Amino acid sequence: MVTVPHGHHMASLLSRAAGAVSLLAVVLTATTSTSPAAALFPEEARPTRSGYLSITSTNSLYYAFYEATDPVTTPAASAVPLLVWLQGGPGSSSLIGNFAELGPYLLLDSDTSLSCNPNRWNRRFGVIFIDNPLGVGFSVAASDADIPTDEPTIADHLLAALQSFMALDPAFRARPLFLTGESYAGKYIPAAASRILGANSKLPSNRRVNLQGVAIGNGMTHPVAQVTVHADQAYFAGLINAAQKAEVEEMQTRAVSLVKSNKYVAARRERGKIIDFLENVTGVATAFNYARGQPHPTQPLRDFLNTGEAKAALGARSDVQWARRSEAVSRALAKDVMKSAIGDVEAVLASNGTRVLLFQGVFDLHSGPASVEAWVGELAWPGLGAFLAAERAVWRLGDGQLAGYVQRSGALANAVIVGAGHMAPGDNRPAAQAMIEGWVLQTGPFGEAAVRDNVVNES
Ligand SMILES: *[C@@H]1O[C@H](CO)[C@@H](O)[C@H](O)[C@H]1NC(C)=O
Ligand SMILES: *[C@@H]1O[C@H](CO)[C@@H](O)[C@H](O)[C@H]1NC(C)=O
Repeated sequence: MVTVPHGHHMASLLSRAAGAVSLLAVVLTATTSTSPAAALFPEEARPTRSGYLSITSTNSLYYAFYEATDPVTTPAASAVPLLVWLQGGPGSSSLIGNFAELGPYLLLDSDTSLSCNPNRWNRRFGVIFIDNPLGVGFSVAASDADIPTDEPTIADHLLAALQSFMALDPAFRARPLFLTGESYAGKYIPAAASRILGANSKLPSNRRVNLQGVAIGNGMTHPVAQVTVHADQAYFAGLINAAQKAEVEEMQTRAVSLVKSNKYVAARRERGKIIDFLENVTGVATAFNYARGQPHPTQPLRDFLNTGEAKAALGARSDVQWARRSEAVSRALAKDVMKSAIGDVEAVLASNGTRVLLFQGVFDLHSGPASVEAWVGELAWPGLGAFLAAERAVWRLGDGQLAGYVQRSGALANAVIVGAGHMAPGDNRPAAQAMIEGWVLQTGPFGEAAVRDNVVNES
């Protein structure tokens, strides 16, 4: 059995009950393919641009770009920020983020057709969803041997994809760029950012990537620290008792010592066991959000994205079967999963002015606020003391609704989002939209006034 420490929420269920589930899947597919409900890609839901961004002579990454629908008109339109969104996994398609979390049109749990998302991240900014790494989603690899096995290769591919994107329109390059994503993208993002900053220092100005910041949601970034908090988190949330906590602590200790002896594949397996154990003994529908009554449904999006109509509307290859998660990519990164990207975060923080936002939904048993705080405390960064001493302020939306908590100092900001789990931008869409808009534009809880007056209410 393949243990899936950080895969999509259905992955462990699927591997546990593969036979029963795939039988069910066949039945469901048969049912939905005869239903008329599949014709549902409205013209207005199409990406502004989409297709494939060349990364090597034989490979390319699939992307879907949505231009800002309501950009702030000052500064000039040419300065409207661009966000890249990367899903985690490893191996999950960024179209999950597009259609289930933050894109302009969502396929909601209860729906069979796309609905307009008022909390889309492309309200103020252009958003580029990239199926990454090579082998994920619609980014089919020319050969399985081309699938990356480490972060430096993934970072090279992302930089190449961004250069290909910039070449599509000369106006793109000047726009401030932010790398965003969640979960295992907590490693892709810092790796790509530090690669970009390194490249910029050697490239002529007309080839530089205008990277201004990175935003990581419920990220897996420094696993050796993060794997040590599962027991405490579940215990103090009341989900396990002291005896079960002791069992989880034993698994955590084993995972840490496996990392320290460079046994990364075994360490990944041990971490996977912790999540399995927590799901088993707590009975929660999904460890990605222990407040949810049911796991997020997966079949509707799979059926939808595999229709000829959706592939055509998205500019994806018609011969590629879309999967939420690529097992080949997950396998290729087996040794990478428990390795740390903290050094890349340090490189980003050490650069001049690249901002870092970390955000977490509170109901995540994989990599929630305590998990992230555990690794942030290990950052080698001169600003760490001031960050840790900074007040964690209550953050409310304009209507007074509690959104969460914001702590910031220097280039680093941390936002905790209430009412949300691992897929925070999808679980609490109003808060996540307010967060990304405030952080990128440096307004509201992320503006200078908030620091000066200790006011974090949005106006
Ligand atoms: C979780 O439950 C399944 C099914 O009962 C079992 O096979 C598996 O070993 C359990 N996992 C852990 C880590 O306890
Ligand atoms: C950072 O920026 C400041 C102000 O623009 C400049 O004086 C300084 O030399 C820069 N440092 C590095 C390491 O680039």
